[in-house]
Amino acid sequence: MAYDYFRSGADDERTLRENERAFRRSRLWPRMLVDVARCETGIELLGSRLAFPVLTAPMAYQKLAHPDGEVAMARAAAAAGTIAVVATLATTSLEEIAAATPAPKWFQLYAQRDRGVTRTLVERAAAAGYQAIMLTVDAPVLGRRLADVRNGFGLPPGLAMENLRVAGGEGLTLAQHVLSRHDASMEWRDLEWLRGLAPVPLVLKGVLRRDDAVRAIACGAAAILVSNHGGRQLDGTPASLDALPGVIEAVAGRVPVLMDGGVRSGGDVLKALALGATAVLVGRPLLWGLAVGGEEGALRVLALLRGDLERAMQLAGCATIGAVTRDLVELRA
Ligand code: GLV
Repeated sequence: MAYDYFRSGADDERTLRENERAFRRSRLWPRMLVDVARCETGIELLGSRLAFPVLTAPMAYQKLAHPDGEVAMARAAAAAGTIAVVATLATTSLEEIAAATPAPKWFQLYAQRDRGVTRTLVERAAAAGYQAIMLTVDAPVLGRRLADVRNGFGLPPGLAMENLRVAGGEGLTLAQHVLSRHDASMEWRDLEWLRGLAPVPLVLKGVLRRDDAVRAIACGAAAILVSNHGGRQLDGTPASLDALPGVIEAVAGRVPVLMDGGVRSGGDVLKALALGATAVLVGRPLLWGLAVGGEEGALRVLALLRGDLERAMQLAGCATIGAVTRDLVELRA
C-alpha cells in the first residue's frame, strides 16, 4: 500500500510517464575545450546558499517509507547542503523537523478550508524558522490514483498528520481527508491574505501555464515551481520539462523558476537548468533512498545526483552554473 501510494500517478499515469520521457527525448549539445578542471555547482536561492541546485521535494507521509521519516530527510538535505521542503501532510510535526537541523528549510502549504488552521500553519512555520512558504496550487481536490482507490489508502494506525493533529486511526482515506479539509475555493485574490500572515517569501507550486506564471508574479510570488505534482493530479498535463520554457519566457527573469517531475540524473538537472530553471526538486528517488537506508539512504541519493551533475557539467563544458546556457539543450516533441 505504501509503495503504491508513493509510486503511482493519477488515472492512466500518462503525465507520470511523460515527466521522465521528456528528459529522455531531449538532447544535450556539449561545448568542448573549456577549462572545467574546477567545477562549481553552488547557487543562491531566496537568500540561501545551496551546494547544488537540487531541493528535496515536499512529500507526504514519509514515515511510511522509513520510521525516521521527515527528520531523516531533513537531515539528509542539510548534510548535502541543500533545502528540504517539508510537507503539510508530514508524519512528523514541523517543529520537530525544524529542531532536527538548523539548515534552511521551506514549508509546503495546503490551504485548509478552515482559514484559522491555515493561518496557524503559516505562523507556526515562520516561528519555527522556515524560510519560505511553498503553496501548492494544483490540488483543490486530490487526483484519482487508482492504486490508492483500490487499496483504500489512508494512514495506518500509529502514524498521524502531525501538523494537523489528525489521527490516522480515524479511518479517513487520504482522498476523504483532502475533500473534507482542503480549501478548493482558493483564488488568486486570496494570496494577498496569505502573504500577510507571515513575512516570509511565498513560492507557488504547481504552475504550468504562462498566464498563471504572470499572475503569480503580479500576486507577489517570490518564486514559481513548474510542476504537475509528479503526475499525481490532472492526468494529461504536459511533462514539467515541456511546460518549463513557456513559464521561463513569461517570467522573463523576474523571479526564480524551479521545476520538478521526472528528474532522475545529473544530466536531467543540467537540461532543466539549461532551459532556465534556477533549481529542481527531486521526489520519488529520495523516497526510495529513505526507504532503503533512512537518512543515509536519502543522503546517498543526493550525493549521487550531485556527483552526476558535476560530471555532466564538466562533460558539457560548464565550470559554473552560470555557464549553463539555453543552447546546451534541445527539446524534442
Ligand atoms: C499529496 O500531496 C500527494 O500527492 O499524495
